[in-house]
Amino acid sequence: MIFYFSGTGNSRRIALRLAGLTADKAVDIVSLTDIPDPKTERRIGLVFPVYAWGLPEPVESFLKRLPVADCYTFAAVTCGADAGHALKKTGKIRPLSAAWSVAMPNNYVIGSQLEEEETVLRKLRAADEQTEEIAREILEEKRVYRVHEGALPRLKSNLIHPAFNRFARRTAPFYATDACNGCGTCARNCPAKAIALEGGRPVWTRQNCFQCLRCLNACPQTAIQYGKATEKRKRYTADMYAPAVEGI
Ligand SMILES: Cc1cc2nc3c(=O)[nH]c(=O)nc-3n(C[C@H](O)[C@H](O)[C@H](O)COP(=O)(O)O)c2cc1C
Ligand code: SF4
Ligand code: SF4
Repeated sequence: MIFYFSGTGNSRRIALRLAGLTADKAVDIVSLTDIPDPKTERRIGLVFPVYAWGLPEPVESFLKRLPVADCYTFAAVTCGADAGHALKKTGKIRPLSAAWSVAMPNNYVIGSQLEEEETVLRKLRAADEQTEEIAREILEEKRVYRVHEGALPRLKSNLIHPAFNRFARRTAPFYATDACNGCGTCARNCPAKAIALEGGRPVWTRQNCFQCLRCLNACPQTAIQYGKATEKRKRYTADMYAPAVEGI
């Protein structure tokens, strides 16, 4: 069983491809109503994005509640650049037999302009190749730690990640512009259930959210902004580029 969390589709893409290559089942943890008991599983996999060099909150809380199982357990994280000690932190919650990081297109549009199409496609193609290698290693039950931690990983994961959780997950800066047509996609798809539609416009109903940026990146009208900085920036979801990567 492969459990995944994904804001904009990168981790979902890796989880589904790994499941296909290893004949496992991929399950979105957000869709689960109960915590499964994995004791009869042959192996357990986790796939999720790195958030500020740490784990997204829903992944951390899921892992803490998942019953312990004595089987091969792996984690693969996706990140725009580097993972810091995200996987070492994961291993402290749940011992890992193997861990990988996969560089994928950056979706953190709040922080900076997103990558050009050429870079996005190069990263997605390289990630697809790397996924095949990871699948081979999973099937051989390899015990490896192939993680690009980047510079100052301990500092980033121990200091910046807690600060991100405390201060950077505010929903107050989100708003929808007049381009919004009230389609409701953002409210339906928010994994934190933090958006409601009122008078045909989204309102953010919780003070903090997971900060997955799905609402902002996937709005069909590019109507969602986060403060002023995102107004002139691109948007990214893996689905936007899937046909080009697959040559469709
Ligand atoms: C809140 C947030 C924090 C992020 N922090 C990092 C980071 O610390 N290091 C990094 O390389 N990428 C970071 N990214 C980029 C994502 O990890 C990367 O784009 C990931 O593949 C997105 O996966 P998804 O499409 O499954 O949501 C961050 C993205 C978000 C939304
Ligand atoms: S997805 Fe975009 S267009 Fe649709 S309701 Fe939300 S903000 Fe408006
Ligand atoms: S409000 Fe937007 S960024 Fe926050 S969890 Fe929902 S979809 Fe993700």
